[in-house]
Parts: sequence; C-alpha cells; structure tokens
Amino acid sequence: MQLPFSQSCENNKEPILAVLHKHFAAGEHRQPLRVLEIAGGTGQHAVHFTTHMPWLHWQSSDVPELVDTLNIRLRAAAQPNLPLALPLDVTQQDWGVNPFDAVFTANSLHIMPAIAVAEFFRRLDNIIASGGHLCIYGPFKYGGNFTTSSNAQFDLWLKSRNPLSGVRDFEWVNELAGEAGLTLLEDNTMPANNQLLVWKK
Ligand SMILES: C[S@@+](CC[C@H](N)C(=O)[O-])C[C@H]1O[C@@H](n2cnc3c(N)ncnc32)[C@H](O)[C@@H]1O
Repeated sequence: MQLPFSQSCENNKEPILAVLHKHFAAGEHRQPLRVLEIAGGTGQHAVHFTTHMPWLHWQSSDVPELVDTLNIRLRAAAQPNLPLALPLDVTQQDWGVNPFDAVFTANSLHIMPAIAVAEFFRRLDNIIASGGHLCIYGPFKYGGNFTTSSNAQFDLWLKSRNPLSGVRDFEWVNELAGEAGLTLLEDNTMPANNQLLVWKK
C-alpha cells in the first residue's frame, strides 16, 4: 500500500529531530518519555523521531477524518513505541487522554482557525505534566511582520484556500502559552522560513 507522503516533512524531519533530541534527551527524563503529537499528518515525523529516539512513547493523533490515512504509515512502521494514532480534533471538549511529558505539533497552527488555536492552548493546561515541554514547528510573524516575503506569499495562499487559516503572530501564541502555564525556553530559527518554539511547564 502507498504510504502517505509529504516532501516538506522529508526535508524538515532531520533539523527538527536535532532540536527535539536536545530537549527529550535520554537520561534527563523518566522513561519512556510520553509525547502527544497533534496533527500527525503523514506520520513521517512520528516514525522518524521514534526511530531515532527509541526511549520515547509517541502518541500521534489527527482529526477523525484523517486518522486512518496517518495510521497507514504507523501500522507499516510497527514500532512498539509508536501506537496507532488517535482521532483528536483540538476543539473537542475532552481529548480523552491522560497527561503527557510533552506535546509536539508541526505546521498545524496556520491551518486551523485562530479560534481552534486558542482552544488548543486552553486544553493544554490539563495535558502537559508539570516540567513537561510544548514544541511547535511552523512559520510565525513577529511584531506583525512576516519573517520573509515567501511567508507573506504563503499566508495569501493559505487564506485563498481557507480565509480562517493564516500565519500566526508569535506574540499572540506566546501569550496563549503563558496563560496555559508555559514559559518559552527557545525560539529556534529553522530552514525554509520556519521556527521551532519550545516551552516548558
Ligand atoms: C499541513 S498539515 C501538517 C501535518 C504534519 N504535522 C506535517 O508537518 O506535515 C496540517 C494538519 O493540521 C491538522 N488539523 C487541522 N485542524 C485541526 C484541528 N482542529 N485539530 C487537530 N488537527 C488539525 C490537519 O488535519 C493536518 O494534519
């Protein structure tokens, strides 16, 4: 069976791994380190990170209508530290999961409507255990400005598909994180005009 595939995931999975490796280092955390992935997409990140950090227990998820596609890759990987993904829309009242040591999501905040982004952060309060991490990869604006003209073009393209999508303001996202009890540790500038933001609870 054909596995779901994204070229951008293929390009960014190694640079993201390098940052996650630092924060999810073996020996510094109880094991397994339990990670919840929101918006798992094709599953390429989940498989790559659990292959290279076997001490993680990676629970991926995606919206109910896409979780079967995501699970094609996770089932094929058949890794003991990578269970099948859960159907999870960040706007649902109850995520139906216990707290995790970390939450990871890539390229999702600019896809979901702003109201869903706010919901996502509101739910996190009960989802990330004390001392845990939140890692978010994607493009952001700073001081209302895009980091590059190509991100400005990308924002226009996103809005042409869905007027509720759009590159989010770093300051707004960081404020929501603060309200969820999270403190920014790092803002990593990544290839292809993206950031990898890391907070700690
Ligand atoms: C551009 S894809 C990114 C997928 C993958 N993380 C990646 O980096 O390739 C956007 C993802 O956001 C997810 N998404 C959109 N709205 C969502 C919501 N309300 N709750 C959870 N996931 C959502 C989509 O289902 C999709 O998997």
